[in-house]
Amino acid sequence: MIPRQIAPGVSWTGAVDWDRRLFDALIPLPEGTSYNAYLVQGKDKTALIDTVEPTKRHLLESQLEAVPRVDYVIANHAEQDHSGSIPWVLEKYPEAKVLCSALCQPMLDELLCLDPGRVRPVADGETLSLGGKTLRFITTPWVHWPETMSTFLEEDGILFSCDFFGSHLATSRLFIEEGHSVHDQAKRYFAEIMLPFRRTIEKNLDKLRGLDLRVIAPSHGPLYRQPQFIIDAYRDWVGETPRNSAIIVWTSMHGSTEVMVEHLTAALAERGVAVHPFNMAVSDIGRLAIELVDAATLIVACPTVHAGPHPAVLEAVHLANALRPKVRFASVVTSYGWGGKTVDIIKSLIPNLKVEFLEPLVVKGYPREKDFQALTAMAEAVAGKHGDLGLK
Ligand code: FEO
Repeated sequence: MIPRQIAPGVSWTGAVDWDRRLFDALIPLPEGTSYNAYLVQGKDKTALIDTVEPTKRHLLESQLEAVPRVDYVIANHAEQDHSGSIPWVLEKYPEAKVLCSALCQPMLDELLCLDPGRVRPVADGETLSLGGKTLRFITTPWVHWPETMSTFLEEDGILFSCDFFGSHLATSRLFIEEGHSVHDQAKRYFAEIMLPFRRTIEKNLDKLRGLDLRVIAPSHGPLYRQPQFIIDAYRDWVGETPRNSAIIVWTSMHGSTEVMVEHLTAALAERGVAVHPFNMAVSDIGRLAIELVDAATLIVACPTVHAGPHPAVLEAVHLANALRPKVRFASVVTSYGWGGKTVDIIKSLIPNLKVEFLEPLVVKGYPREKDFQALTAMAEAVAGKHGDLGLK
């Protein structure tokens, strides 16, 4: 493989991972991913910006085969899908030094056992001249670890943003010409790892104002020639106003919960609320994360088993609590045979959500007419609350 040029003296030296289907043993990757590394060659010095997941190191190796010298490895982020091949790079290029944020330095030591003498922290706003190519380091914390930074190549207007603005998408195209074709994957990535930090990310977006941004080059997925497209999308996602939408995470053992979910879904839809029911027996949690970015209401619907919520919904409840979305209202629908504490347990599992709890529905056995009426009333309450917020 040879490096693919994205601007004079700037090349993509990354790896596309077409077949990866799970990240962190947790996050589904329905469309694979890539680990984007970049080589910036100035008149005097050469910098490698990030590396690749060690399982794909051979692809980086082949692209660096004809590169005689690397002076700097810029580690925008300590996570191993970007930093994991740094030890090999340092071995190949004994003169190379690693530059990273101050918070990243000890993390590289802890995660990769790097020689501390070869790692130098850089300050927010510090610049480095490679000879006709100037790198400016901009700390952009919590996208999604505390140490993350971006690197701006001033002469070419390229922002190397690592996870920030990234998308898990394997593609042979370097650039997305039609920005919308990557929107879903970028939103999925934002939702899965950055949603809990959206207020800090908003400040990071503010830090980018005033840069002559011509290209955003993240370390996953394709690059953006129209940076404003993805910046505007992030502005929307980090905002505080939810959409007029409700999520129902559910499972059913003998059909009682299922018919209630069907009724509630229809009743919400009739009232103009966009509904996203997720049957946790078959649902992609990444898809759920995407909908959590904007939803105003979360409803957990499940049978009571072992005196509490059916375990199939617990992953979804845990995810919602961990991602701290802007959801405003919540409720519970449950059926039971002989008792239990499903409602109280679910409430106790989502302390991070600043929600108003709407009247739950607890049904013994199969739902009767009065229960369906209660579900209609729940839909009416949700639509009314959304209306009070001016959501359309
Ligand atoms: Fe793509 Fe946080 O690593």
